Amino acid sequence: MIKKTPINDHFWMPFTARNGFRKDPRIVAAAEGSEYITDDGRRVFDSISGLWCCGFGHNRPEIAEAVTRQLQTLDYSPSFQLGHPLAFELAERLTRIAPEPFEHAFFTNSGSESADTSLKIARAYWRMRGQPNKTRFIGRIKGYHGVNFAGTSLGGIGPNRKLFGQLAEADHLPQTWRAEDVFTKGQPQGGEELANHLEQLVGLHDASNIAAVIVEPVAGSGGVLVPPSAYLRRLREICSQHNILLIFDEVITGFARTGAGFGAQTFGVMPDIMNLAKTLTNGVIPMGAVLTGKEIYDAFVDDAQADHMIAMPHGYTYSAHPVACAAALAALDVFEQDNMVGRATKLAPVLQESLHSLRDLPHVVDVRNIGMMGALQLAPREGDLTVRPYEVGVWCWHHGLYVRWGGDTLQFAPPFTSTEDQLAQMAQTLREALLALK
Ligand SMILES: Cc1ncc(COP(=O)(O)O)c(C=O)c1O
Repeated sequence: MIKKTPINDHFWMPFTARNGFRKDPRIVAAAEGSEYITDDGRRVFDSISGLWCCGFGHNRPEIAEAVTRQLQTLDYSPSFQLGHPLAFELAERLTRIAPEPFEHAFFTNSGSESADTSLKIARAYWRMRGQPNKTRFIGRIKGYHGVNFAGTSLGGIGPNRKLFGQLAEADHLPQTWRAEDVFTKGQPQGGEELANHLEQLVGLHDASNIAAVIVEPVAGSGGVLVPPSAYLRRLREICSQHNILLIFDEVITGFARTGAGFGAQTFGVMPDIMNLAKTLTNGVIPMGAVLTGKEIYDAFVDDAQADHMIAMPHGYTYSAHPVACAAALAALDVFEQDNMVGRATKLAPVLQESLHSLRDLPHVVDVRNIGMMGALQLAPREGDLTVRPYEVGVWCWHHGLYVRWGGDTLQFAPPFTSTEDQLAQMAQTLREALLALK
C-alpha cells in the first residue's frame, strides 16, 4: 500500500527551497543498503550517504541492535559530574583508532557543536597558557563548519553567512582550487602559495593575537575542493612556526571518506585538534567529538587542581549520550570488521572514472574527486549559479538517483557499500540528466 505523505508549513525545513519543495515534495520513507525508498515506493540510489554521514550503508542491523539494547539498559544519564561505562569505552576506542597524538575525546551532538567546541578549546588553551590575547580565528573561503555562531563566522560560503553577521573575529584564507586544477583526478600538485596567505594574516594581526586556523582537509559542502599536494603541509609548518593551533574539521573526511581512516592520514599532516561527527555513528544518532592530544587536555586539568574545580566549563546535556555512544561503538565495529578503509580504497577509482566520464557533457565545467567524494561543477545559467544543479538534482531524484546540489556543484559521497554497477548507473543517470536539461 503506497501512502503519499501530506506535507505542511509547520515543519520549518532546514536548508530547503520551500517553494520548489512544496510543488514537488521529495519524501524518503525507508532505506536499505545504498538506497532510499520513497513514499511512493521507488528505489533511489543515495549518492551522498544521506548527508555525508551514512558511509557504511543504511539500516545496519549491528547498529540498530546496539541502540535497541542500550535503550532498554540506560536511556539517559548526564555526563556532568557523572559518567557511564560506554562513554569511557567509546573515548578509549575512538582515540585508539585515531592517529597520534589524539588521546582525549570531548563529545558533542553535531558537527556544528564540534566546531564551536574546538574553537572554544583553542581560546581557553592559550589563556590558560598565559597568552590571553590569542583570540582571533582564521577559516577559509568555501569552508563549512556548520551553522552555530562560530562555525558561521569561520565558514566561507557566502549565502550561509549574509543573513547572520559575524560573531567571532575571523579572517579567511583563499579557497584551494586553482583555475589550472580543473578536471584534475585526485590531488593537484603544489599549492604552497595558497597556504602562504596565512603569513600575510600573521603579519596583519601578529601571531600573539591568533588562536587557531580551522580548515576541512577537503572542503566538502563548499564543492569538494581537494587541497593541492603541498598545501596542508605548508599550513602546518606556518602554524607550528607561529604557535597557532591547527584544527582539522574532519566531520566529512573522518572514517574512510578520503581513503585512509582520517583525512589527516590521507594527506600525512597532523592537526592539533580534530573535529568529528556524521559517520561517527553512521548518521544513526546525532553525535560529534573533538579530539585533542595530551598537551591541550593537560592545560585544562592543570588549571583546575582542587577536587571541586571544574576542568572544562563547557558541555551539552546530551554530551556522550548513552544511546549515541552505543551507536558509535557499533559503528566503529562495522568500520573495522567490514574494512571500510579497504572498501573505500577499492571503490575510489571507480567513483573517479564514473565522474570523469561526464567531463565532456554539456554544462560541465569541472570534475573533482578524492577517495569516495567528488563534485561536478556546472556552468551558471543566465547569471544564476544555482539553478542548473537544482534542476539536475530534481530530475535525477525522479529517475532513481538522489544527488546533493550545493552552489554551482553536484556533490557525491556514496556509501562504501555501493556496488560498481550502482556507481555506473549513477553516471548514466547524470549523463541523461545533463543531456535532457538546458
Ligand atoms: C566539515 C563540516 N563541519 C561541520 C558540519 C556541521 O555538522 P552538523 O550539520 O552536524 O552540525 C558539517 C556538515 O555538513 C561539515 O561538513
